[in-house]
Amino acid sequence: MAWKVGAAIAGLLGLVGVAAGTGGGADPRRAGWRESYRPPAEIPFPGENPYSAAKAELGRRLFFDPILSGDGSRACATCHVPDLAWGDGRARAATRMQGDMDLRTPTLINVAWQDGPMGWDGKFKTLEAVAAMPLTSPTNMNLPMADALARLSADSSYAAAFAAAFDEPAITRDRLEAALATFQRLIVTGTTAFDRWIAGDEAAIAEPAKRGFDLFNGRADCASCHSGWSFTDNSFHDIGVGTGGDIGRGRFKPTSVALRYAFKTPTLREVAQRGPYMHDGSAATLEAVIDLYDRGGIDRPSRSRAIKPLHLSAAERADLLAFLATLSSGGSRDLTTASFAATAPAP
Ligand code: HEC
Ligand code: HEC
Repeated sequence: MAWKVGAAIAGLLGLVGVAAGTGGGADPRRAGWRESYRPPAEIPFPGENPYSAAKAELGRRLFFDPILSGDGSRACATCHVPDLAWGDGRARAATRMQGDMDLRTPTLINVAWQDGPMGWDGKFKTLEAVAAMPLTSPTNMNLPMADALARLSADSSYAAAFAAAFDEPAITRDRLEAALATFQRLIVTGTTAFDRWIAGDEAAIAEPAKRGFDLFNGRADCASCHSGWSFTDNSFHDIGVGTGGDIGRGRFKPTSVALRYAFKTPTLREVAQRGPYMHDGSAATLEAVIDLYDRGGIDRPSRSRAIKPLHLSAAERADLLAFLATLSSGGSRDLTTASFAATAPAP
């Protein structure tokens, strides 16, 4: 009985706290912050490459088809694995010879909302422009573009699929790129506990995660870069990661010291499932990532002014981790479900 009364009072206090916006130690700015994480209504497609179901289906087939590698051994999905949150779980991507590339495979979740340059260092202008690089690179899929187009043209089912997706039957580089990009724009995060909380379900996430959210947006200021629904400003910063071997790397052809070691802010969607972390896979776990931010990374002229030692308490670290854990959908990792495809605007 005593327990029941206690629970009832706690429940009541919780309710009062929410109504007043100040109870339970919640940051008074929390309600405003929550507003900035509301999900968008639909997937954005560029005017030059509008959505069509036929194009997306063709893109899906191409993405998973090893026909696009010289020896038939790899596809885009070899490294962007749906079950691994569209990454590959490795510190650095594997070359065809099973060596390590310089960079870790980034997730493709929510690429449709990346309106700036693509790649860790921004070397690609658009999503469409990415595909040719892995496809033709001798250490990766190793298939010259002319050979890729010839192979697809010789396959009657591909010829029919391209004809259905585009007005004319010719299989060109532009169309190959357009179809792959259209499919990738359907790779959208699933609904998470965090999203249910943003939508108003107070019970969707626990108190430690809510405190972690306050810290993320408040004192730790993570949200100055990991901003909005997709947790990225689509920009490039040096957070103090990257070793001497990386010198000169960072923003593609850096024009100033400030752009050295500047890598793209990754989305934090499904982040708990996506280790190891950073462009070079140098942080093995989320705990290691928090340690890094707590130290403030490597102090050097290019480091962002938003990065400084945080001196987090053990409880604050735990709160941040609890918050990050709410960004995973937990269910199927194939996020391009029919429901997302259905939200795409009609052609
Ligand atoms: C060997 C593994 C591997 C394969 C195969 C591969 N990728 Fe990637 N992908 C990577 C790596 C590593 C990067 C980072 C490259 C960079 O930043 O320069 C990347 C980056 C990308 C990006 C940029 C994402 C972002 O957030 O900026 C896109 C889009 C992409 N790949 C799509 C594709 C497509 C389409 C294919 C098939 C044609 C493909 N990838 C094949 C490893 C791979
Ligand atoms: C100055 C901008 C900035 C701030 C502030 C910032 N981040 Fe980041 N974050 C980045 C960038 C850029 C990267 C990628 C760096 C790299 O790969 O070298 C990153 C990477 C990460 C990653 C790894 C994601 C992945 O897929 O590899 C996590 C997790 C993360 N940040 C969490 C946080 C948390 C938690 C905070 C607050 C304590 C924070 N970030 C503050 C810009 C920022």
